[in-house]
Amino acid sequence: MTLPTAVKRVAVLGAGTIGASWVAWFLAKGLQVDIWDPKPEAEAYVRRSITDAWPAMSALGMAADASPDAWRFHPSPEDAVAAADFVQENAPERLPVKRALYGRIDMALRPDAILGSSTSGLIMSEMQAGFRSAPRLAVGHPFNPPHLIPLVEVVGGRETAPETIAWCLEFYRHIGKKPIHIRKEARGHLANRLQAALWREAVSAVVTGLASVEDVDTAISAGPGLRWAAMGPHMTFHLGGGEGGIEHLLAQFKPAFESWWETMSTPELNEENCRKIIDGVRAEAAGRSMAELVRERDAILLPLLALVSGKP
Ligand SMILES: NC(=O)c1ccc[n+]([C@@H]2O[C@H](COP(=O)([O-])OP(=O)(O)OC[C@H]3O[C@@H](n4cnc5c(N)ncnc54)[C@H](O)[C@@H]3O)[C@@H](O)[C@H]2O)c1
Repeated sequence: MTLPTAVKRVAVLGAGTIGASWVAWFLAKGLQVDIWDPKPEAEAYVRRSITDAWPAMSALGMAADASPDAWRFHPSPEDAVAAADFVQENAPERLPVKRALYGRIDMALRPDAILGSSTSGLIMSEMQAGFRSAPRLAVGHPFNPPHLIPLVEVVGGRETAPETIAWCLEFYRHIGKKPIHIRKEARGHLANRLQAALWREAVSAVVTGLASVEDVDTAISAGPGLRWAAMGPHMTFHLGGGEGGIEHLLAQFKPAFESWWETMSTPELNEENCRKIIDGVRAEAAGRSMAELVRERDAILLPLLALVSGKP
């Protein structure tokens, strides 16, 4: 097995939104990237994505001395993975599609190659079952766009070898990501479950008339969201306890949190409630195009990333 710190060549299977962004990141880290995607337009899309991603990565000092040209497309997934130390799989989020792809590459992978799947919610135990390479398959779930957001969730399936998990954690760390180990399989892994829990309450707030879509968004972006970029919810509450820390916070606020949790429920995403969310978001966007909104977000996100990238 190639040492995670000695990887030179990676394959990217599926080069859509996530795959193309991974390509940009791998290139920025000086790796040679072999790509396969069945869509004829994918090559042009990858080229555009690298061009778009490069200035931001360079501005953040993440692409020093790297070449944006060290990639090539292959005619089949078997060809693309043949020389790879590591494969990042980003095929469409459907179990039969991923399994068909794993079936194709099972014998073509080098016997020591490791694969990380970008899947947002599929279960690795179901994806890997029956393949020779199963012990070397894990989830390596990034956040959009992977060339900017540091988090990668590493999850093993029933047949994933513990060495594969350790290898993936070290590899992602080595290439400048912030990997975490999710110790059990769960739909949505961890970070999307956290997002889903918050969004459940955000949707509830709108459909029950507690606040407008815009005010719910401000409640996070001008409130706890600022602290969450600096540290997570537990450490934030440790500080919330003052000198007494988390012990004091729990003693003081436990009854309050328990009574708030009791009042929370799951909203239905029926037509009427979806309409309330859509109308609220459209009103908040106030005619700004998607490109304008992305620019506004990145004007904040890039300096924020520069700040948090030095965090241990
Ligand atoms: N979009 C996100 O925000 C996000 C975030 C994290 C993880 N993911 C995960 O990344 C994966 C890809 O999602 P995406 O958003 O990039 O989708 P996408 O639709 O943008 O891209 C999928 C790509 O896969 C290609 N493809 C089609 N059939 C294929 C096959 N059999 N084998 C390989 N590639 C094939 C398509 O041509 C397309 O280019 C999914 O597993 C998804 O859950 C998505």
